[in-house]
Amino acid sequence: MAHGIAVLDFGSQVTQLIARRFREMGVYSEIFPYDVSLERLKESQPKGIVLSGGPSSVYDKDSPKRDVQELINLAPVLGICYGMQLLAYDLGGVVESSPVREYGHSLIRWSHNMGDVPRDQQVWMSHGDIVKVPPMGFQVAALSERGLSAALKSDRAWAVQFHPEVSHTENGKELLHAFAFDLCQAKQTWSMKSMVPHILENIKNKIPANEKVLCALSGGVDSTVVGTLLTKALGKDRVHCVFVNNGLLRKNEFAQVLDIYKRLDLNVHGVDAEELFLSKLNGVSDPEKKRKIIGHAFLEVFEKSIQDIEKKDRVEGLKWLAQGTLYPDVIESLNLRGSSVTIKTHHNVGGLPEKMNLKLVEPLREFFKDEVRAIGREIGIPEDILWRHPFPGPGLAIRVLGEVNKENVEIVRKADGIFIEELKLRGLYGKIWQAFCVLLPVRTVGVQGDSRTYERSLALRAITSQDGMTADWYEFSPDFLRSISNRITNEVREINRVVYDITSKPPGTIEWE
Ligand code: XMP
Repeated sequence: MAHGIAVLDFGSQVTQLIARRFREMGVYSEIFPYDVSLERLKESQPKGIVLSGGPSSVYDKDSPKRDVQELINLAPVLGICYGMQLLAYDLGGVVESSPVREYGHSLIRWSHNMGDVPRDQQVWMSHGDIVKVPPMGFQVAALSERGLSAALKSDRAWAVQFHPEVSHTENGKELLHAFAFDLCQAKQTWSMKSMVPHILENIKNKIPANEKVLCALSGGVDSTVVGTLLTKALGKDRVHCVFVNNGLLRKNEFAQVLDIYKRLDLNVHGVDAEELFLSKLNGVSDPEKKRKIIGHAFLEVFEKSIQDIEKKDRVEGLKWLAQGTLYPDVIESLNLRGSSVTIKTHHNVGGLPEKMNLKLVEPLREFFKDEVRAIGREIGIPEDILWRHPFPGPGLAIRVLGEVNKENVEIVRKADGIFIEELKLRGLYGKIWQAFCVLLPVRTVGVQGDSRTYERSLALRAITSQDGMTADWYEFSPDFLRSISNRITNEVREINRVVYDITSKPPGTIEWE
């Protein structure tokens, strides 16, 4: 951290983006809870400190507070939105409830030179309070169209009422760049190439020489990178990878992915547990029940795999389980408002039952998804794995709405295979974050050939996103939608109607269940 930027989280939904933006510039950035101790911050020797936005008003009884002067003495500070109000309030300025709530796009005019930021800047705001009088030593550096203060500046600190970290703010990156390099003199020490030896070293130090690791692979980028890093650090004999066919994978996925793992020279055990999963799921409709059943079934398979590996292969010392936890999962658990409301229980987050008695190794805890891809490229993971669309642990079970059974899973698998094939043929796959089919629990009347049919409906979902936290639907050409609908209704006998989902997240989620 010695050359990086510390971000103190005051509860904004977009705090993660602040750290990401600095890392994209090659500057290390780490997120801390807003009340992290000064000693801990000092230890990390930040070159700069950012106070994030947050939902509170400084006048709320329980609003998160912080001695800002103490932080400024440690390193230059940038306050964003709530961070600006807190800075002004704590240093003796006047903060008031705004006569108008500025929400969304706004044009501001800078009276100071801020690196490459243009004088007139389109920004994104969302705030109810404003700084009426800046604290001593600060000047108003920008005004909004309504004449309200949009930025403050002193020798050691800047503050902005808008969010430079979101993509809706034009030249937001330029402002963060100016903060990092002009005010803080941060250094570009963060690159994935330089990270790989450091990660391998950490793994070697963490796992004692007589102990071994079980690594569950899913076919996705995170677990593949984890398995490969561990194997590079510890050698094939000490890393036993398990890839489970739970009967809920996509078309030909088990065989294809197993083949890729063998080519990557991982010590991989393919486990066919289709019957186990499908028999437990048979007839279950409730999405959360499906997730729980699948989570437990995975653990059952892993426990059995450990026994098999220990007994059959006479392996001793299998004491660790590798997980592909990423930085967003870690940040989520730091959230100052406690863990957010459970919308869906993602079975692979949240630890292991104690009885498994395994220690966890999580080599990707410090990284964002795009950084994981960059690491993957460094260590030779094939591009088709790096750019695979994310696929949920519960697989096709949460894409069969209503009752899961083998027949329904097969219908959605067939349709999905056609959708993905067409996306690849037309060069669209790489432009989309995630695309899939959802089998709906409704039948509708149709006419196929000369006959009346009463068959199933299918929804297509394709979204763009940066991290899966927010998403927008992808605008296909009508021609593409027509041809995909024709192919699916012609080739999948059980489907006579295809619809396209045009819901963003929020208010929808990406998966339907
Ligand atoms: P939602 O549907 O919550 O999805 O908007 C966000 C991202 O998470 C994936 N997802 C899951 N991944 N286990 C997983 O491993 C799950 O239970 C699960 N549910 C959703 C989803 O595919 C999307 O990429």
